[in-house]
Amino acid sequence: MRAAKIVLDPAYTVGPLNRRLFGSFVEHLGRCVYDGIYEPGHPSADRDGFRTDVMDLVRELGVTIIRYPGGNFVSGYRWEDGVGPPERRPKRLDLAWHSLETNQVGLHEFARWTERVAAELMLALNLGTRGTLEALDLLEYTNIRADSALAEQRATNGSPDPFNVRMWCLGNELDGPWQLGHRSSEDYGKIASQVAKAMRQMDPNLELVACGSSNRSMPTFGTWERAVLEHTYDDVDFISCHAYYQERDGDRGRFLASAVDMNAFIEAVIATADSVKAELRSERTIDISFDEWNVWYSDRFHESGKITDTWPYAPRLLEDQYSVTDAVVVGSLLICLLKHADRVKAGCLAQLVNVIAPIMTEPSGPAWRQTTFFPFAITARLAQGTVLRLAIECPSYETSEYGRVSLVDAVATIDDNSGAVAVFLVHRSQESATTVSIDVRSLGAVRLGESLTLADDDPTATNTLEHQERVGPTPNRSARIEDGLLTVDLPAISWTALQLIPTGLTAKDLSP
Ligand code: AHR
Repeated sequence: MRAAKIVLDPAYTVGPLNRRLFGSFVEHLGRCVYDGIYEPGHPSADRDGFRTDVMDLVRELGVTIIRYPGGNFVSGYRWEDGVGPPERRPKRLDLAWHSLETNQVGLHEFARWTERVAAELMLALNLGTRGTLEALDLLEYTNIRADSALAEQRATNGSPDPFNVRMWCLGNELDGPWQLGHRSSEDYGKIASQVAKAMRQMDPNLELVACGSSNRSMPTFGTWERAVLEHTYDDVDFISCHAYYQERDGDRGRFLASAVDMNAFIEAVIATADSVKAELRSERTIDISFDEWNVWYSDRFHESGKITDTWPYAPRLLEDQYSVTDAVVVGSLLICLLKHADRVKAGCLAQLVNVIAPIMTEPSGPAWRQTTFFPFAITARLAQGTVLRLAIECPSYETSEYGRVSLVDAVATIDDNSGAVAVFLVHRSQESATTVSIDVRSLGAVRLGESLTLADDDPTATNTLEHQERVGPTPNRSARIEDGLLTVDLPAISWTALQLIPTGLTAKDLSP
């Protein structure tokens, strides 16, 4: 069996883990909202029409912050349509996904829903077809306690208390020609700066996100970030990154190495942001909000001809069924995000329900976990405190796009209160297992807590309506600690989480 070596030492840290890294994304798209989180008449629906079975799964997933309401959808959205008595709300054409938007779910409903799933709300503004005034109106309506018309309207509509939304995205993917209101980096940078300044004049404590590139292969990647930040550096806190990965042409080795691309993406954006910092002689540092990331078989979607001119309500769009391999890639992307926890301070798995999602539902039927649910839920639960940098020595393999890539990648966290450590590992070999030995002597006396692996003899296995629990994590019984050496066998195409608990502590001494 092949071997890999890792040294774990709590002295080598990346930085504190921001819980916002375990965010997700709900867009008015397909069946994410309608027939997803919201289905009045479903046996599990609460008085507001929200499915409680879905809420239970969202809580189990451990999502901390949710970006809303788009995505491409937001660039044609009028937030006013989604407030006030539901029976008076207009039905609109959603140009992004060629669907009918009934506006039965809007700001109030979604804010209530996020509260029930114990997540923070992150709002995206329409800067595609709207501007400063509409952004200010929405901010006043959302956050301000005053005698003003919009604050009063919010109270009349059922929420005397402001929603107090901290994190706001200044538009969505405006570098993309597909985006309503697509514009040049110069034009976007100017409007984003004006909107940000105006918003801060109303509420100085906001955290604002400027749009970065829609992905690293955009022709304007790099120059877009530079120009946008030159205009907005003092006005914003974050620049966004978006990235979706898929297996193409049966090239699984390349797909399994997707985190190499994400890594290069993050490092290039940090370099660009820091070079603008130097150029402007600024004291501020701009962080990254990786507010859309996932595996998405977008080629299949574009070839499917599913965007029609019939304007359907809640069509089945982007309903990818995820395999074990997809879940392993999702786990590896999470490892990559954690490794950059010092600069990536928020992340959103796109999306949450039905649309390229970890949770699937059937109208009037069940809700279940896709394969990708597991690495996310386990990482969100076990990763605590401070992210640790590991020294990894392992064999590599040749890829068609990224050169040689290491077979094993890993990251760890340490809970600053309890001293409990979690190690997350991805194994990219398609052929055979690798034994990993982790030197944990610097932790002192620890015992093994949970040891979970996601793998399958069939890496294409999925969870479906018919077989909802076909795939799931299983205890990795090979894991053991002896004389400060933790060894574990990683099966081919697998993702693993190991927990190390200081001797003497019990499970209830650990962070929830
Ligand atoms: O998540 C699906 C779409 O991907 C979003 O609407 C858009 O922002 C991105 O291109």
